[in-house]
Amino acid sequence: MHTLYSLCYWLGNTPLGSAIHNSTWMFPVIETVHLFGVVVLVGSASVLDLRLMGVAFKDYTVSRLAARFLPWIWAGFAVQVITGGLLFASEATKMYGSGVFRVKMLMIAAAGINALVFHFLAYRSVGTWERDPVAPLSVRLAGVISVLLWFGIVGAGRWIAYS
Ligand code: HEM
Repeated sequence: MHTLYSLCYWLGNTPLGSAIHNSTWMFPVIETVHLFGVVVLVGSASVLDLRLMGVAFKDYTVSRLAARFLPWIWAGFAVQVITGGLLFASEATKMYGSGVFRVKMLMIAAAGINALVFHFLAYRSVGTWERDPVAPLSVRLAGVISVLLWFGIVGAGRWIAYS
């Protein structure tokens, strides 16, 4: 048996995984918290992305918005990893076979890589461009890629149920 499948099988049969799976209310409650996490994470990330794209919040500097919203982005992400992990544990072998779930995880990884690349390249010189009417192309591109990936991640999350 494939190692990853064995791991999913084990996870699904842990007391926690089985409890969520066999309960009528636990999955919907956790999924609701997962959705609150989407609001906090994707909402806060979108504020920054729209600013990077030069579409909104132009009267705030990028560094000020980043300082204000990054803690919310991290808090939302932590909620997503915890609640997503619990949902996953309750249907781990089903998720193993879901192509849409794999695409969602790949897009989450891509969003992380996009944020890291932005942080270590363009953001290093934020002081030199954040007051320009139009930010450098790499900055606007990072914002566009991020928005598109979050759209895709939310869409894939919803789509899993029908895959
Ligand atoms: C990081 C950002 C994330 C976003 C924006 C996100 C978004 C969503 C959305 C919109 C749903 C659909 C909720 C519904 O149908 O009511 C969902 C479901 C789900 N998510 Fe996430 N999610 C994220 C992270 C994660 C992570 C890290 C995991 C697992 C480790 C995960 C596992 C799941 C599972 C198992 C479901 C339920 C699928 C089903 O059976 O319908 N999610 N997610």
